[in-house]
Amino acid sequence: MTAFCGLQLAHPVVNGSGTFDAIAARRAFGPALDGAFPFAAYVSKTITLEPREGNPPPRLYETPGGMINSIGLPNKGLAGYLEHDLPELARLPVPLITNVMGSTADEVVRLVEAVDARREIAAIELNVSCPNVKTGLDLGADPAELGALVRAVRPRTAKPLIVKLTPNTADVALVAQAAEDAGADAVSLINTLRAFAPHPDGSGAPWLGGGTGGMSGPAVRAVALAQVAAVARRVALPVIGMGGVASGRHARQFLDAGATLVAVGTESFRDPAAGARIARELGAESANSGNR
Ligand SMILES: Cc1cc2nc3c(=O)[nH]c(=O)nc-3n(C[C@H](O)[C@H](O)[C@H](O)COP(=O)(O)O)c2cc1C
Repeated sequence: MTAFCGLQLAHPVVNGSGTFDAIAARRAFGPALDGAFPFAAYVSKTITLEPREGNPPPRLYETPGGMINSIGLPNKGLAGYLEHDLPELARLPVPLITNVMGSTADEVVRLVEAVDARREIAAIELNVSCPNVKTGLDLGADPAELGALVRAVRPRTAKPLIVKLTPNTADVALVAQAAEDAGADAVSLINTLRAFAPHPDGSGAPWLGGGTGGMSGPAVRAVALAQVAAVARRVALPVIGMGGVASGRHARQFLDAGATLVAVGTESFRDPAAGARIARELGAESANSGNR
């Protein structure tokens, strides 16, 4: 068992928000999925206060060893999530972590209060990769701005509060420290790295409907490992490490860098059962190395 913020998890492998649709998977695989659910906890896709359509297409671009997405966080909004998705997600055989994002502290507070009221939800993840409308920088890019946001939210919930840090910042350890000082219970990283996909017609125009996108997959793993290690050295909080994890060995590298849990994202698009395989491989890795 793995302990994380008061939860007892069967193993240390969870999913990255937005990369595994548990409701669609149940539709595809039926009740068989409940007996073989690939993750030890389920992190749902980011929800916002109001419904969002997401970005215009194209939304995906393949790079060497990675992909750039500009999905743009389409979601049913808070009310739609609570009414339609939560009853389905509450039936999963693992604890549910709900991921929320707002563009102001007030929006985030409203989301957190609504989520806090639902006992089906075990923990809250705060996605702070939302641009500040004034500066254009991610809300989570600046330690002072992030600290103020977490301080506003913290008193509104007794549930574990995980802050999902943005990697698009000068010093991620400094931002993690601000989250810890403001009362976060855990941090998760990395979210996608901002990236540009040029149009294949050679014009230099953006290919993605959103202009820029977020890069993920094997190509970001080395960056993610460096950021996870820097954060784990700086804060005492548990860390969920992710970025390009595709095998048990990769998961072990994140644990060695100081993570308590490891999340699988892009690899689940290639193989929806990747989480279970990676957890199995990690168990074998740990057994071989004397369970360090
Ligand atoms: C298609 C796609 C959608 C994503 N949607 C979200 C999301 O809704 N909320 C969020 O916090 N992160 C989202 N992410 C980021 C992932 O959870 C993860 O942090 C990132 O992709 C790095 O892990 P990976 O390289 O294993 O994919 C998304 C990533 C991808 C590729």
